[in-house]
Amino acid sequence: MKDEATGYSIENHPLMESLRQVETEECLAGVLDPMKNRSMAALCLLLAATLALCLVSTLAKLQQIDHPVNSDSLRFLVIGDWGRKGQYNQSKVALQMGRIAEELEPDFIISTGDNFYGSGLTGTDDPAFEESFSKIYTANSLQKQWYSVLGNHDYRGDVEAQLSPVLTNIDHRWLCMRSYIVNAEIAEIFFVDTTPFVDKYFTHPGHHTYDWSAIIPTREKYMSTLLKDLDSALKESTAKWKIVVGHHTLRSAGQHGDTQELVKDLLPILKADDVDLYINGHDHLVQHISSLDSKLQYFTSGGGSKAWRGDYDPEKKGLKFFYDGQGFMTAEMTETDAEIIFYDVSGSVLYKWSVSKAYTAM
Ligand SMILES: *[C@@H]1O[C@H](CO)[C@@H](O)[C@H](O)[C@H]1NC(C)=O
Repeated sequence: MKDEATGYSIENHPLMESLRQVETEECLAGVLDPMKNRSMAALCLLLAATLALCLVSTLAKLQQIDHPVNSDSLRFLVIGDWGRKGQYNQSKVALQMGRIAEELEPDFIISTGDNFYGSGLTGTDDPAFEESFSKIYTANSLQKQWYSVLGNHDYRGDVEAQLSPVLTNIDHRWLCMRSYIVNAEIAEIFFVDTTPFVDKYFTHPGHHTYDWSAIIPTREKYMSTLLKDLDSALKESTAKWKIVVGHHTLRSAGQHGDTQELVKDLLPILKADDVDLYINGHDHLVQHISSLDSKLQYFTSGGGSKAWRGDYDPEKKGLKFFYDGQGFMTAEMTETDAEIIFYDVSGSVLYKWSVSKAYTAM
């Protein structure tokens, strides 16, 4: 099944998952209805059992969405830390994203999380969804599929609401899941739910409450399962480019610095599995850091609204580019080459970086 507007396959879309569940429930209702004939009931039961098995087996793996690009190059925008109902220059950044996207014609847009400030959404009926998303990113060129992850601020609200297909019904572009894979042929993009890795949200939550209701059966098990699934999905991937997206930093010269828990648990997997780019938000700025001992490149795109914190470490090892203010990132990649560009709040190019596969392979 292909969606005409966005061109991506919805076989693995969470909406399909809920449809499958509805089918199962109808079947079970049939079994319990004494008026239905027995063979029908047996068939239903068998079908229900098969569907249940399918559901269980998909739970153990990261969901994959196919997003064919139908072109020699894959193009996308990356924005993070944005949802402030247009304030703190969110609207200005959005306007420039629209202008740049008109030329670039991106296949989709990636959000690195902290989608809704200050505390995520209160529910699927929270007007902030439209006030911070639908009514802000209005350009025709931005009417593409958005792929989002959750940030720590999103975890302070109703997490299930942000993941709900109800929002996709309100705005067709919206898709947010905890951890999943987008297969865009030229590149495979692995979205990782990084918030549960960060100790301080558990040990020093301050006056904030986080929605850990789905971090089960224990936080440790949730993290180890995710890392194991990510590791095997990365190893299985045959894509030319492997990109991992998470909200939190791995390396950053900004206020938050490196996220030690991720450096310890996630980084070794990315290096061992030949990941090309790690893209995150969390620090409200744009920056590029090179790994000193592998080909991995770290890109922060967290300049979607409030910025200008003014504290950073200019001596950070591997730091190639740092800009403290608002901005966003574009990527254009073919099978052999990739180009990353940072733009500022007025749509001026801040930084360009390109790499070729032949070079990184040596
Ligand atoms: C918004 O951007 C303008 C430049 O266009 C800048 O002068 C101003 O300080 C920014 N405002 C905020 C709140 O960051």
